Amino acid sequence: MFGRRTEGQAVPRKPAPAPASRPEAPPPAASAAPKAGPQKPAPAKIAPAAKPAAAARPSDHHSESYYQIKTTIFNALIDTIDLTQLAQLDAESAREEIRDIVNEILSIKNVVMSISEQEALLQDICNDVLGYGPLEPLLARDDIADIMVNGYERTFIEVNGKVELTGVRFRDNSQLMNICQRIVSQVGRRVDESSPICDARLPDGSRVNVIVPPLAIDGPALTIRKFRRDKLTMNDLVQYNSISQEGAEVLGIIGKVRCNVLISGGTGSGKTTLLNCLTGFIDTDERVITCEDAAELQLQQPHVVRLETRPPNLEGQGQVTMTELVRNCLRMRPERIIVGEVRGPEAFDLLQAMNTGHDGSMGTLHANSPREALSRLESMITMGGYQLPSKTIREMICGSIDVVIQAARLRDGSRRITHITEVLGTEGDVIITQDLFVYDIEGEDETGHIIGKHKSTGIARPSFWDRARYYNQHHALAAALDRAQG
Ligand SMILES: Nc1ncnc2c1ncn2[C@@H]1O[C@H](COP(=O)(O)OP(=O)(O)OP(=O)(O)O)[C@@H](O)[C@H]1O
Ligand SMILES: [Mg+2]
Repeated sequence: MFGRRTEGQAVPRKPAPAPASRPEAPPPAASAAPKAGPQKPAPAKIAPAAKPAAAARPSDHHSESYYQIKTTIFNALIDTIDLTQLAQLDAESAREEIRDIVNEILSIKNVVMSISEQEALLQDICNDVLGYGPLEPLLARDDIADIMVNGYERTFIEVNGKVELTGVRFRDNSQLMNICQRIVSQVGRRVDESSPICDARLPDGSRVNVIVPPLAIDGPALTIRKFRRDKLTMNDLVQYNSISQEGAEVLGIIGKVRCNVLISGGTGSGKTTLLNCLTGFIDTDERVITCEDAAELQLQQPHVVRLETRPPNLEGQGQVTMTELVRNCLRMRPERIIVGEVRGPEAFDLLQAMNTGHDGSMGTLHANSPREALSRLESMITMGGYQLPSKTIREMICGSIDVVIQAARLRDGSRRITHITEVLGTEGDVIITQDLFVYDIEGEDETGHIIGKHKSTGIARPSFWDRARYYNQHHALAAALDRAQG
C-alpha cells in the first residue's frame, strides 16, 4: 500500500495495513517473506536530513507523547515493510525507503509534529531498524570512552573522564534486549535467561559486555568500551599531563631496553592505552605475540602475531583460556609476549616466559598500587593450584618483573601515571621495590581539577642501568633522570 522511492531497489511491502500498536518489534532477521504490493510515489513530507542520523547528539529528552507516537509509527512500519529485503539495501537507500513510508504513515494517521520532531523521529526509527537504535548517536561520537546502559531508562557515558547521564532511553526493556541480542549474535552468541552473561565486540572493535535478567535485576545492563581508532600515543599522554616529559622518556627507554613490565591500575584507568604506548618502542625486527581476551592493542610493528582467547560455545565447549594461549606462545618462537590482562593462572606462565629469555614481555593487571600488583600476582599463582612456597613465588616474581607502572583515574576524572617502580629483589620473604617517579598531588584548583606534579625520587642509576648500557640507552636515561630532578 505504501509507495517507494528507489526504482529497482524497492523493498516489497507486506499486504496488510498497519495496526495501531504492537508490543514488540522483531529484529530484522525475524521478518516475514517478501510480498510485493501496488505502489505509488510517496509525498516528500520530511526533508532529507542534512547529516546522517548517527551524527546527532541526543542531548534533549523527548516528551512522553513523542515516544508514544514513535512506538505507533515504528510498529506500523514494521508491519508494512519487509525487513529482510531492507537489510539488503545500502544504508542510504534503506533510509530513503523508511523516510517515504514514515511520511505516509504520518499523513494517514494524521500525526501533528513539528519539522524538527519529524526529523528526530525519522532518525530514531532509522537507527532502530538499521542499527543499534538509541545507541547509534552515542556510538558515532569519538569523545566517548564508555557507554553504560542500566535498563531501558538510563544510559550513562564517560566523556573527558567524567561519567554523565544522557537523554538516551529505549522504548522498553525488550527493545534494549533486542539490541543486546543483535550485538552478541554478530559474534555467534546469544543472551537469554539460560545464558545471561555475554562478552562481544562491535564491528568497529568496541568491547561489549551484556548481562541480562534474572542476574541483572532492573533490566539488561550493557557496557561498551568504545574503540578508539586514533590510539593515544606517549606524546598525547605528556600533553594530557598523564606523565611528565622526562617520565615519558624513561618509559620509552624501559620499552626499548626490553625490561619486563607489569602495568597496574584500576578499571578504566588507562592500562591498555599505556601498554599500547609502550609497545610503540619495540623494534621493528622483533617478533611479538599478543594474547588478549578481546583484541584491543594496535601494534604498529610488522612482525606481530595477535591471539585472542575464546569463550565456551552454547554447549559449553571449545573454550581456549589465556593460560593455553600463553603456553602456546612459547612454541611460536616469540621474542616478546604481551598479555592484555593477567587475571588468573596464566600469571605463572607469563612469569616463566619472562624468566626464560623473552625479555621485554609485558602485561596489565588490576591493582591499586605497585605493591598490591605484586601480591596479586602471587595470589593468582597460588590460586592457580601451584603448590610452591611463597618465598619461591616471590623470588620468581622478582626474577621476572623489572618494572611496575601504576595507572590511575583520579577523582577529577583525569588519568595519571602515578608510579614508575622498580622491583629490586627479595630480602628474606619481602619483595623490595624502589620508586623512580611518583605523582605528587598538591591540591585542587577552583574548578575541582587536581593539581599535582610528577617527581623523580632522585634515583640516578636504576637497577636496569646495565641493561640500558647494553642497548646504548644509558646516556639518554641519565639525561632524562637528571632533568627530572632539576
Ligand atoms: N592518559 C589518558 N588520558 C586521557 N584518556 C585516557 C588516558 N588513558 C586512557 N584513556 C582513555 O580512557 C579509556 C580507558 O582506557 P583503557 O582501555 O586503556 O583502560 P583500562 O585500564 O585498560 O580499562 P579496563 O580495566 O576496562 O581494561 C579509553 O577511552 C582511553 O582512550
Ligand atoms: Mg584494558
